[in-house]
Amino acid sequence: KNREDGPSSCFLLNDMKTLSQGGNKLGSLDFSKTHTVLVDVAVFNCGGGPMPQDGRDLWHSDFVKMPCSPSSTMKTGAVKQSTKIRWEVISKQLSSLAKKTTASVNDLEEAIIKYNPKYKGQWSFDALSSLVTVVPKEDNYLPQLFPKIAALALRLPVLVKKAIPLLKRGHTAAITLSQTQIACLLANAFFCTYPHRNASGPKAEYHNYPSINFTSLFGNWSSRKKEKLRAIMHYFQTVIANEPKGLVTFQKRCLRDTDLPKWGSSNDKMPRLHVTSHGTIETEGTGMLQVDFASSWIGGGVLGSGLVQEEILFVINPELIVSRLFTEKLADNECLVITGSQQFSSYSGFGDSFEWMGPHEERLGRDEWGRLKRQIVAIDALNFKHKRDQYNMITVTRELLKAYCGFKGHRQHEPDIATGNWGCGAFNGDKQLKAVIQLMAAAQAKRGLAFFTFEDENLKQGLQQTYHLLVREGTTVEKLYRLLEDYCAAQTASCDSHVDLFEFIRINITPSSQL
Ligand code: AR6
Repeated sequence: KNREDGPSSCFLLNDMKTLSQGGNKLGSLDFSKTHTVLVDVAVFNCGGGPMPQDGRDLWHSDFVKMPCSPSSTMKTGAVKQSTKIRWEVISKQLSSLAKKTTASVNDLEEAIIKYNPKYKGQWSFDALSSLVTVVPKEDNYLPQLFPKIAALALRLPVLVKKAIPLLKRGHTAAITLSQTQIACLLANAFFCTYPHRNASGPKAEYHNYPSINFTSLFGNWSSRKKEKLRAIMHYFQTVIANEPKGLVTFQKRCLRDTDLPKWGSSNDKMPRLHVTSHGTIETEGTGMLQVDFASSWIGGGVLGSGLVQEEILFVINPELIVSRLFTEKLADNECLVITGSQQFSSYSGFGDSFEWMGPHEERLGRDEWGRLKRQIVAIDALNFKHKRDQYNMITVTRELLKAYCGFKGHRQHEPDIATGNWGCGAFNGDKQLKAVIQLMAAAQAKRGLAFFTFEDENLKQGLQQTYHLLVREGTTVEKLYRLLEDYCAAQTASCDSHVDLFEFIRINITPSSQL
């Protein structure tokens, strides 16, 4: 058997570095100009747990406009109009819901429309009502849960006192908050309380931010919606029954011009690689930096009908959804890193076959800041309408930049990266090209890759063989970059017939013995 056929130069999953092995010391939890901490750090550092940090409301374009802000007002009364503080209307509605032992979807709809009157008759709740009717009566906990979510949403002014900055374009900045604060923010998203967040179109104030109010999740019943809602309702049920005690950090990373790698002159060699056709990033990749195949609008279609890798990740780890509240659409040189989010649900299937499979028992340990040892990086690939659009160095360089932004380490002991067919499903990318791009980005970032081909046996073998060849030849990032230039030219020249990248590399790489 030819050596190139075997995985001889590849690493085992157990060889890959995880967060638990890292020797990094975090030190005490501290806030700074670029790190907003929504819990009291003095109390936290003394072991007092996550207490809300004091602060004041800021009704400002650099901060999340909060539903409980005294500056958030609305007009009430059809005939004699008067202006009211919107939170008064919201809290009146939510308080009367919270007092009930059970509430119907109709009750919810009536309440939500009271403080979103513009959307009367427009917002549909059919998916949520269908869910209530299809869940068997004996385990239908939803009517009892709705009042409890209302009670959780009402705690907002007590739980989140400090203003939440927006993670804006062009800036590296982070927000750390408690899992309870996240649950409360999400309960408000569930009750669609966020002001200024329903309008769309280029003139809307938050036009460059993802949606956060859950309206789009409640309408347009489909079996996808049913499964998503089951997972999200399970999340609320779990956190309400048993408040999680940890913290989660959301960090927007923005590569500066001075950090941009010079791909055409980089001497970095191939990183460590584990490649497998079995398993998934979120399960077998646990402990590594797990790649979210993201949309530039973080979370993509999680609140709509989307249900591929990113949406599934967000539905089983619903705390990730809160990133939509404050993360501006990602630019080409940006990514979002989330540390500490909890997985609440298990699932099977993908897309239309996705099914909620019940609770997930979290076994991960926590770091010194009480964050679960789970780290996720959201990087958005380009969405190619036509496959041929990706074979040029402008798009290749953009994808290299995006992957590198996500992979670049910031401290000494960083875990390896768990990834796979990034950009190659909904976004139509070429699996071989994207695998090589990610290898180059990981080489440049000096981190290993665990590559999950998602049952694609051919890709696994092709990648193993190519990797073996690249290692044997001592191939540098520079050399691969030149090969990609030639490959794009060959692909363009060949018009309609496809040139296989792994094959192209095999033929065109100069054997070191012939140099
Ligand atoms: N682990 C490993 N590989 C996976 C997993 C998993 N859990 N799930 C899927 N794959 P896709 P994209 C493989 O289409 O093309 C969303 O709407 C599988 O081979 O989710 O980058 C986002 O919000 C699959 O075909 O990612 C964006 O808008 C491939 O990864 C958009 O989709 C790509 O998964 C991103 O699309």
